[in-house]
Amino acid sequence: MTAVALAATLTSASVVHAMDAAALKGEAVSVVKSFGGPLKMALQEGMKNGGPVNAIAACNEKAPEIAAAASAKSGWSVGRTSLKLRNPHNEPDAWEQKVLQQFEDRKAAGESPDAIAFGEVVEMDGKKQFRFMKAIGTADLCLNCHGSDIKAEVAAKLDGLYPGDQARGFSKGDIRGAFTLKKDL
Ligand code: HEC
Repeated sequence: MTAVALAATLTSASVVHAMDAAALKGEAVSVVKSFGGPLKMALQEGMKNGGPVNAIAACNEKAPEIAAAASAKSGWSVGRTSLKLRNPHNEPDAWEQKVLQQFEDRKAAGESPDAIAFGEVVEMDGKKQFRFMKAIGTADLCLNCHGSDIKAEVAAKLDGLYPGDQARGFSKGDIRGAFTLKKDL
């Protein structure tokens, strides 16, 4: 192959690659919505039907169920993670930890959590995966269970379920964590 032909092949390969990454990112964004939407509804319904003590069940039981359903439906692996965890099962791996740290840096530089996301192709154990994360901001509603001024009965229930809970002391507008998705390529 001549140098020119080789260069042309490489260019078209990287263009296709960029298009694939854009398509995967679009797919990931819609999977995030199929997880985050029902989750927020379950939380709001729980709050309406008995306040935060009752709504803890929405997060405790329904979040993993909704994540599993969104994963099964989409073919992506879907979850949530954070640098300050409530449920130790949501612990970030090295890639997630690095991205969460970058999200904090981007927020410190002025970006709004709602606009912060990142995706890339990575190689894990010789296999290619597309991984994607989207930041989750902290709203007023979240402070009932993740803020600094949590009602005693809510704190007692959280203490019982999550003895090592680190996910308190957040303020409105902080990055509470992120949706994290991956798909084998
Ligand atoms: C009624 C209490 C309650 C409210 C309100 C609440 N959460 Fe949570 N949150 C929980 C519980 C309980 C868990 C642990 C869920 C589990 O066991 O998977 C959790 C876990 C999380 C996690 C997963 C990471 C981790 O720490 O384990 C994120 C991210 C999160 N919440 C974000 C939010 C956001 C954003 C809001 C507001 C829109 C919110 N939460 C409102 C109780 C609550």
